Amino acid sequence: MKYKKSTRFLFTFLLLALMATGLFAKDDLNCLICHQFKGLARLKPDGTLRSFYVDPAKSEASVHAPLTCETCHDYIKQVPHLAENIRPVDCANMCHLENNPALGEDFSHQKLKTAYENSSHGPGNEDAPRCNYCHPQHQMTRLTKAEPRFIVGLCASCHGDEALMKKHDKSAKPVVLYNKGVHRQANYYGNKKAAYCVNCHDPHRVLDYTNPQSPTYKDNRVKICSQQSCHPKATATFANKGAIHNTYGDSLMGLITDYLPPIYFLIIVGTIGFMLFHNGLDFLGFVVRGREVHPPKPKSETRYFTRLTLNERIQHLILLLSFITLVITGAMLKIPREWVLAFTNNLEKAYLVRWYLHRVAAVALASVSLYHIFYLIFSKRGNEQFRELVPGLKDLRDIGGTFKYYFGLAKHKPNYGHFDYKEKI
Ligand code: HEC
Ligand code: HEC
Ligand code: HEC
Ligand code: HEC
Ligand code: HEC
Repeated sequence: MKYKKSTRFLFTFLLLALMATGLFAKDDLNCLICHQFKGLARLKPDGTLRSFYVDPAKSEASVHAPLTCETCHDYIKQVPHLAENIRPVDCANMCHLENNPALGEDFSHQKLKTAYENSSHGPGNEDAPRCNYCHPQHQMTRLTKAEPRFIVGLCASCHGDEALMKKHDKSAKPVVLYNKGVHRQANYYGNKKAAYCVNCHDPHRVLDYTNPQSPTYKDNRVKICSQQSCHPKATATFANKGAIHNTYGDSLMGLITDYLPPIYFLIIVGTIGFMLFHNGLDFLGFVVRGREVHPPKPKSETRYFTRLTLNERIQHLILLLSFITLVITGAMLKIPREWVLAFTNNLEKAYLVRWYLHRVAAVALASVSLYHIFYLIFSKRGNEQFRELVPGLKDLRDIGGTFKYYFGLAKHKPNYGHFDYKEKI
């Protein structure tokens, strides 16, 4: 026997207690008399604690509550049990349930086990999850009823782990890209219909997508998309667009989606950065020297311009509104978990409103942009304004002159044209 003296003493004490009680009805051999104690644990050679505690409350609330301990731990025939008899539990044990929920017959998970053993998660892959990784023993709740985000987190605990995936010549890309995708964001708005991992991958029979038996094989994808009235009209082209994990692969679209964000970022930082620098100087000049006083001009030399006609004001208004709407509804898609937007999580209506607003705003922005191009080319006023907006050498001189003024090297800012360089930038 491996047990130490102190443990043996504990066993004797507990055995006495065991005889005095019939505490747990489903627990014929009174396993819980020992295992209900949180302290029942052993220090492993690597310094971590291996717990042998079984929470009676959780066990009683589990779907396996009707089973006795020995249904699964059938290798234990007597207590105290011998360490050398311990084996892993076989989830395909026959369960001689008195009240089988389905048929009143013997019941087992043999079918699932066979499927699992022939999958990529099956034997031979020591990093793959066993049944009890996903369905923790003794506290089994039905995963079919779990929140989509919980399941995503479960799969991501391995598939989002770059190092682990690299070890298997795979990458964490499917999870990273799924997280960026529209299905995941819909989950965050409490939309239970949006696809998550197990709608497309059978969790008990995960297969490589090059395997014709896999639901993710190219010819089978259309079936996934059109299931459960998700996209009932889905065609093979739709299903194979590669947008599922948003993997555009090496296509031109892939290149664009990879390189656009950093370019966009540089442009934003460049523009806003220059603006802050420029306006900071302007403000500093104002604080140090006060408002610039222009020498007064005779009334006859003062010219007045219509800055924006009604038509142009409407164009600007549409641009303004559609752009701001796109930013907000886009952020709801991109960063729904950030605190600014956290209040929209779990609001399915917010997701629907977002869906429509984003599209309406996109059409508005595209239309006003097209109209604007025609306006600049074909209307007299638009054409004139456009010509005035084209940057020229004078603008360079104006920039120089303005900075001279900012640094105290000139008395006045230059006289700008109809549009100054700031408006042109
Ligand atoms: C008298 C107290 C006691 C009783 C009763 C008892 N056990 Fe244990 N059990 C222990 C102790 C102590 C350990 C830790 C052994 C060790 O240090 O490896 C343990 C370990 C286990 C393990 C884990 C073994 C491993 O190394 O993975 C299982 C499984 C187990 N018990 C199941 C049962 C079942 C099922 C019953 C009822 C049929 C039961 N036990 C009854 C004290 C008890
Ligand atoms: C539905 C099957 C099932 C039932 C019922 C069951 N167990 Fe387990 N038990 C497992 C599985 C699976 C493991 C994980 C280790 C393995 O594969 O052997 C496990 C592990 C254990 C361990 C090792 C510590 C741990 O949690 O990993 C103990 C102790 C244990 N069981 C005790 C019990 C006791 C006591 C009962 C009765 C109250 C019980 N088990 C009922 C399936 C079951
Ligand atoms: C990779 C994680 C994972 C592994 C490993 C796994 N399952 Fe599951 N299992 C799930 C998920 C997720 C569901 C819910 C599927 C759904 O919603 O359609 C589920 C559902 C089930 C169900 C239906 C009841 C329920 O929980 O809703 C049973 C029974 C089941 N699994 C048994 C097993 C058995 C037996 C094994 C080992 C052979 C196993 N599972 C291995 C993830 C897993
Ligand atoms: C405990 C870690 C772990 C968990 C949890 C896990 N997997 Fe896996 N999965 C792996 C490993 C390891 C592989 C094997 C990769 C290889 O070597 O082919 C794999 C393979 C796969 C494959 C096949 C990839 C291929 O090319 O063969 C799919 C699809 C997959 N898993 C989906 C899922 C889904 C869906 C879930 C959640 C329900 C999940 N996995 C949960 C570790 C895990
Ligand atoms: C809408 C369906 C769908 C959803 C949801 C989905 N997948 Fe996939 N998955 C696919 C398809 C189709 C492929 C095949 C390759 C591709 O098109 O990107 C794939 C490929 C994979 C692969 C590559 C392995 C391989 O070689 O087959 C892994 C791993 C994977 N998915 C895991 C996951 C995980 C984890 C989740 C949840 C976070 C998930 N998938 C959600 C449809 C889906």
